[in-house]
Amino acid sequence: MILPARRHRPRTALAAATVLLAAFALRPAAAGAEDGGARPLTDADAQAGRPLYLRECAACHGERGDGAGPAAEFLSPRPRDFTARVFKVRTTDSGIPPRTEDVLRTIERGFPGTAMPPFEFLTEPERRQVAAQVLALAGLLHNAEPPRLPVPASPPPTTRESVAHGKQLYRDAECFSCHGKSGKGDGPSAATLRDVDDRPIPARNLTGGLFRGGADRVDLYYRISGGMDGSPMPEFGSSIDEGDRWALVDYVLSLAAGPRRPPQGDRAALEIAERGGCRGCHVLGDGRGGALGPDLRVAGQKLRAEWLEAFLRHPRRNGQIYPSSTYPMPDMRLADDEARLLTDYVLRLGKRRRSAAAPADLGALPAPAIERGQALFAARCAACHALGGSPAGGGSSPGPDLTQAAARLDFAWAKGWIREHGKAVAGSDAPTDADLEDVRAFVWKSSGAAVASAAAGG
Ligand code: HEC
Ligand code: HEC
Ligand code: HEC
Ligand code: HEC
Repeated sequence: MILPARRHRPRTALAAATVLLAAFALRPAAAGAEDGGARPLTDADAQAGRPLYLRECAACHGERGDGAGPAAEFLSPRPRDFTARVFKVRTTDSGIPPRTEDVLRTIERGFPGTAMPPFEFLTEPERRQVAAQVLALAGLLHNAEPPRLPVPASPPPTTRESVAHGKQLYRDAECFSCHGKSGKGDGPSAATLRDVDDRPIPARNLTGGLFRGGADRVDLYYRISGGMDGSPMPEFGSSIDEGDRWALVDYVLSLAAGPRRPPQGDRAALEIAERGGCRGCHVLGDGRGGALGPDLRVAGQKLRAEWLEAFLRHPRRNGQIYPSSTYPMPDMRLADDEARLLTDYVLRLGKRRRSAAAPADLGALPAPAIERGQALFAARCAACHALGGSPAGGGSSPGPDLTQAAARLDFAWAKGWIREHGKAVAGSDAPTDADLEDVRAFVWKSSGAAVASAAAGG
């Protein structure tokens, strides 16, 4: 039987990392990114990456990188505390800090199945700067580049035999004790597993096809060889020889390639929402969640289905709607079916269905009403709301940008909302219901035109 030499070594990863860090620090820094040389990133990079870090990362990882950002409370797994210097996805040995390329890769691809978004939309220099910032927060920027675990130039090919051999090894090495006999994450030890912060952590369901560190053979080779520090996933590099580790990779990939039912229904949607960390920033159906983004129960009442689905697929495409939010909505690169399920889910939170959200007939809005509405909007609303590219008055705009109102908001919902809201913000000299109807007509007419011309202009 092949047993991992140090089963729960990740628990002591911090101590190991500290010792090794001290050893690396003693080596003279050489040029280049070779093992033991200086990292290819500088203090200047880290400094340049600071604003980007504050905007894109601090909501979860915290301004100081301690994993305690305002969105962290409702996330599981929790955002990484960089200052603890324990990293899951590395091409280095267990207990050793990540290589610079490991951090860069995590930033580019994210961690599928968690709230950690992929930042492939950043330019390469931006990703390097933000990686430098992460390494600086972790106190690792000035440490030498840690050595990469050796990986053969040409791994053995995947064959039916290698998969069968991997299956045998999966039993012998007791992978099943955590991951379960058929890889569903339901092994006998699964319920007892805890991470480095002593929080419960599930043994991964290997049939789900979601791998934090990527699903290429070489990615999985490194995960199995070096383990995932901070989690109970042990390293097997010291107890299983190289050829056998490739066979395990082939078996794991065969598990992930099995039939998978497409996600369906509210339960699947909620699972995607939980996994993707929506709760970190949004209140969900049970009333629990963060406040960095709008309450999704309200979003479900007012957003049009088409807009909502397009927004979930590309949340950055139309600029920021709520100018007051400190952090932007992350682009999780949701798949089409995920965005569709989440759209239905959000609508259901607002007790609506897709078919109910028909667009307003802009042609039917009477011209005189629109004209009256324009004057009223300028007097009553423009101080707080941008519309059609004209910024709200006074530089600060407390209200949402209404440029996309016609495409984004349910026309019928807006009637009731503007009636109450228009009076609430007006004070003593409140506009009449008829006035507010005219304002709604104007907002819809001009935002409809703005959206149409934006679409025509590309
Ligand atoms: C919406 C929340 C969220 C945002 C925004 C976010 N992260 Fe993360 N990040 C996470 C979570 C959650 C994890 C831990 C996942 C796990 O443990 O499986 C994580 C993990 C990481 C890791 C650790 C990888 C490892 O090997 O352990 C790095 C590095 C990282 N994030 C960098 C960044 C950077 C850089 C940014 C901004 C450009 C960023 N993150 C933005 C939630 C977020
Ligand atoms: C002590 C329990 C335990 C044992 C034994 C164990 N694992 Fe894991 N493994 C985990 C946990 C927990 C995770 C999830 C880690 C996380 O998400 O942070 C994991 C994650 C993984 C992953 C996902 C990698 C990724 O990129 O997300 C793979 C693949 C994997 N294990 C393979 C194996 C194989 C193969 C073996 C046996 C050689 C094995 N594990 C033994 C607990 C275990
Ligand atoms: C880091 C915080 C954060 C996370 C995580 C996050 N969002 Fe958001 N979300 C926001 C912010 C901020 C806005 C407002 C965006 C704007 O002003 O353009 C927003 C806007 C939205 C909106 C539009 C609401 C409206 O009134 O227009 C929806 C719907 C939404 N998010 C759904 C989701 C879903 C689903 C997830 C998970 C896959 C998610 N969000 C994850 C912060 C977040
Ligand atoms: C003092 C500032 C202020 C004034 C004046 C004001 N609003 Fe608002 N408006 C807000 C704020 C803040 C919100 C966001 C409230 C919320 O989400 O709970 C809002 C929300 C809205 C919304 C919902 C939009 C969305 O994306 O959710 C509409 C529509 C709207 N206002 C229209 C108007 C109209 C029409 C007027 C003029 C009659 C007006 N507002 C005047 C501050 C203002």
